[in-house]
Amino acid sequence: MGNLLETKNLTVEYKSLNKKDESVLAVNNVSFSIRDGEIYALAGESGCGKSTIAKAITKLVKPKSGEILFCGEDIYLQTNEKRKIYPKEVQMIFQNPYSSLNPKMKIGDILKEPLDINTKYSNNRKKSIIKNILEEVGLSERVLELYPHEFSGGQRQRIAIARALVLNPKLIIADEPVSALDASIQAQIINLLKELKTMKNLTILFISHDLNVIRYLADRVGIMYFGKLIEENYTETIFRHPKEEYTKTLLYSAPILK
Ligand SMILES: Nc1ncnc2c1ncn2[C@@H]1O[C@H](COP(=O)(O)OP(=O)(O)OP(=O)(O)O)[C@@H](O)[C@H]1O
Ligand SMILES: [Mg+2]
Repeated sequence: MGNLLETKNLTVEYKSLNKKDESVLAVNNVSFSIRDGEIYALAGESGCGKSTIAKAITKLVKPKSGEILFCGEDIYLQTNEKRKIYPKEVQMIFQNPYSSLNPKMKIGDILKEPLDINTKYSNNRKKSIIKNILEEVGLSERVLELYPHEFSGGQRQRIAIARALVLNPKLIIADEPVSALDASIQAQIINLLKELKTMKNLTILFISHDLNVIRYLADRVGIMYFGKLIEENYTETIFRHPKEEYTKTLLYSAPILK
C-alpha cells in the first residue's frame, strides 16, 4: 500500500481570537501519512488541532510551514490541471449534517450539485450515479424529492455521506461524523463507513474524540496533544501498549462500552 496523503512537518498558526495580538500554534510540526485504503484516526482532546489538520488538507487554512503531499505531490505546488481536480478528490463529512446540508434544497439537488459544478456528465449519467450511491448508503430513491428537515439525524448523515461520495473521491475526511448522533444511530453510521471502505476501497481520515469508535473503526491511530502528534501506531497496538503517558491517560479515562 502506498501513501495517499502525507504531511511533512505541517505547522499551522492562527491569529489569536483574544484581544492580545498573539498567535496560536494550532498544529505544530506534524508528520504522518495515510495509506491507500486505510482508515486513519486522529484522536485527542478538544483544541489539540485535529480539525485544523483537516482544514489544511482541504486548503481551508494555509499552513505556516511544512508540506502536504497527495499522491506524492505537494498540494500547494500543483499544476493548474491538478489544482482543479484536487478538491474533488478530497471530500468532507462534518459533525452536524443539519448545518452542512442546505435546508432550502431538495435532496436530489443537494446530491446533483457537486456533479453540476464539477463535471460535464449527461443528466442520465448523473441520475445513475446518484441512484447507485443512494443504494450504497442505504436510502431509497424517494428521498430525492424531500428536504433535509424531513429526515432523522442518522438519515441526514447518510445523505451527507452520499453527497461526499458522488464525485468518487479518493479521500474522505470525516470530522466527528457521529458525535451528534444517538449511540444506536452512531453504530449504524460507523458500520456504513466501514462497509463503504471495503466496498469502494475508500481511504478515510477519521477525526474523533471517541476512543471506542476509533478502536472499532480505525486501522491506525495518531494521538494529538497541544498541536503535536505525540504517538502513532496500529489501533490494537496503541490500545494494548500505549507508550506515552498522555495516551494512557486518554485511554484509561474513556468509558468502556460493550
Ligand atoms: N479560526 C481560528 N482562529 C484562531 N484560533 C483558532 C481558529 N480555529 C481554531 N483555533 C484554535 O486552534 C486550536 C486548534 O483548534 P482545532 O479546531 O483544530 O481543534 P480540535 O482538535 O478540532 O478541537 P475539537 O475537538 O474541539 O473540535 C485551538 O486552540 C483553537 O482555539
Ligand atoms: Mg474539531
